[in-house]
Amino acid sequence: MKKIFFGISLFLAPFLLSAQQKTNEHPLYKNKNASIQDRITDLLKRMTIEEKAGQLNQLNGGSFTGPAGNDAGQKAKMQMVRDGKVGSFLNVIGAAETKAVQKIAVEESRLGIPILFAFDVIHGYKTIFPIPLAEACSWDLPQIEKNAAVAAKEAAAAGLHWTFAPMCDISNDPRWGRVMEGAGEDPYYGSVVAAARVKGLQGNLNDDTHILSTVKHYAAYGAVEAGREYNNVDVSRFSLWNKYLPPYKAAVDAGAATVMNAFNVFEGVPASGNKYLVTDVLLNKWKFKGFVVSDWSSFSEMIQHGYAKDGEDAALKAISAGSMMDMESKVVIENLPALILEGKISIQQVDDAVKRILYYKFKLGLFDNPYKFSDEQREAVTELSKENKAEARKAAAGSIVLLKNDNQVLPINPSAKKIALVGRYAKSKEDMFDFWIGYWTGKPSVDDAVTIYDGLKNKYGNAIEYSEGYNADATTNDELIKAAVQSASNADIVLVNIGISGKMAGEDRALAFPEISEGQVELLKALQKTGKPLVALVSSGRPLVLTKIQPLVSSIVQCWILGIETGNAVADVLSGDVNPTAKTVMSFPYAIGQIPVYYNHFNTSRPLPTDKEGNWFSRYRDIPNAPLYPFGFGLSYTNYKYDNLRISNTSIQKTDKLIVKVNVTNTGKIDGEEVVQLYIRDITASLIRPVKELKSFQKIKLKAGEMKELSFLLSAKDLSFYDANGDLHLEPGAFKVFVGGDSEHLLEKDFTVQ
Ligand code: NOJ
Repeated sequence: MKKIFFGISLFLAPFLLSAQQKTNEHPLYKNKNASIQDRITDLLKRMTIEEKAGQLNQLNGGSFTGPAGNDAGQKAKMQMVRDGKVGSFLNVIGAAETKAVQKIAVEESRLGIPILFAFDVIHGYKTIFPIPLAEACSWDLPQIEKNAAVAAKEAAAAGLHWTFAPMCDISNDPRWGRVMEGAGEDPYYGSVVAAARVKGLQGNLNDDTHILSTVKHYAAYGAVEAGREYNNVDVSRFSLWNKYLPPYKAAVDAGAATVMNAFNVFEGVPASGNKYLVTDVLLNKWKFKGFVVSDWSSFSEMIQHGYAKDGEDAALKAISAGSMMDMESKVVIENLPALILEGKISIQQVDDAVKRILYYKFKLGLFDNPYKFSDEQREAVTELSKENKAEARKAAAGSIVLLKNDNQVLPINPSAKKIALVGRYAKSKEDMFDFWIGYWTGKPSVDDAVTIYDGLKNKYGNAIEYSEGYNADATTNDELIKAAVQSASNADIVLVNIGISGKMAGEDRALAFPEISEGQVELLKALQKTGKPLVALVSSGRPLVLTKIQPLVSSIVQCWILGIETGNAVADVLSGDVNPTAKTVMSFPYAIGQIPVYYNHFNTSRPLPTDKEGNWFSRYRDIPNAPLYPFGFGLSYTNYKYDNLRISNTSIQKTDKLIVKVNVTNTGKIDGEEVVQLYIRDITASLIRPVKELKSFQKIKLKAGEMKELSFLLSAKDLSFYDANGDLHLEPGAFKVFVGGDSEHLLEKDFTVQ
């Protein structure tokens, strides 16, 4: 390979020379020893307005043939690279391909500015990790950071500089296919997870194993009406600040290099053209130093929104609002130079955006070694390495939420001679994965995946007897049921993998019925009649309504979409080799009609009394108000007891810190890990506060029989809330503090702030 490149460089030498002459022999921006700021200033002086617009232009590389391919479209894109009209590509992946395109940019364009290569590395590049929602259920921040670091390392070796993650959208709607990409329903927890992901992806950005991250989708995309993709959003500034913005802010504070505009509108203005969101909040109030990238065509889609009249107007509105790089809609490259010449957009504003993008190209070292990340040898040894897979297995086991376990049917009794495994998905690699493993690249990692069937076979060998139970579309028939029942009748325990195909998770995967199919319910009913212990292994990229199946089975194991090591991780948990520790970060609705349901709701003027009697309360007449499984809930193979909650003072000054202590005991016979959660409630405030708000947590190891005394520190900031202008307030008055193992079962104490 090296030889070929050497040959090509020799061949290109005369052209190279002339390109350099066009600039000058030793421009300052090419001098490694100069400061980044001086290099940027020097380069900017040399750039034409077309070249500046080029830096703000991100194109889709084209999925299958790649930009280095030969079709006319790809050739035209490469010509744009030569002309300095492309600052970044998305979907050009792999060391060889990124190197080939980079070579054109640095050796054939006038100024030789390197390209930034971006890709949606959402939960691993080749070693696919659990989906972000599942991973968040681990409450294991070091592991979350590690997972992101592994993803970055693999992506970086494949020539990528930048991923469009983490998604920081708070959502309460499991109809939305993209809840899989976030960290659930809580703004505080979403914030700490977002920061961990940014740190894992970016490190200090001073080596060749970390990449730029993207905070998305800014802002409030998680509030899409009825969970329908690309739909309208209508939230107040009060909700924006208190509920939706905290995770984006935390990611920005953690140093995220880029922020992506959302598809939705805020206050009637599309996020891409929303000056309040981009300039007032992100750039001015938060002092964000990185750059803003649009979502796919979200600049030009302001035309469909009815906010921009044409491409020129869209470019004008997007750039004027403070947005910067245009992903694929091409309105910036086509219109920006003229808009500058006409004085509609100031050159200072454009320079500021270009500087931010150039900064990261320098910071990553691309001007000094444009091929630093495109290393085929490193790519080969890094992708899918043994160590990476070991992390994926650990992460997957740590993401599995045990929702029900009557009569301790799990872990599987070691004396079990025959284990019936039912379920088509359990053997289907195709259904194991969501949209975000990069199907569109034609190079997904499906072949390397361990299905639930494979994993259980690895652990239990011939004790496993498999039957399909249902069809690819989750319907069933007498024959399939008969075979499953027959297999179950001779088994010691029956494991049934149900849920929704992974293909139904991700972008454009909205579902009106996030529930278990009729066919799968029918199958479970038939299996229940065998009288055997029945375990539901639920695969889904979102919390499903499990109300119908809950009474049919002894155990429910929420397996989400766990990535490449799914089967091994599931077997680790079912066998008891790993004691489950995860707790759901999204409420499981009792019924579809209850959506949105979330723990941190407001009290309403008519809260339902605890005795649940009486009329004229805020309630449903046909179902409970509470979800089937609340935020923070998840069982273990052992039990924990909480007692002796105490606080340092029942009355504190605004400047004081409150110390909260609690004793947690592992009352069972095996070692475990518990997520101890602390919530508060601000009883009366000038703006109403949720009935509970998570403010802290600790994940602790407890040996069988062991008791630990835990201590939490609550500061003024923890007790504050935002007003509609984004300013934090701590108001004196009555508060409650709660500690427990989920958002419903809590010990509590009262205190006041003077
Ligand atoms: C659209 C999605 O909304 C966004 O999350 C993603 O990063 C881009 N497409 C690029 O693939």
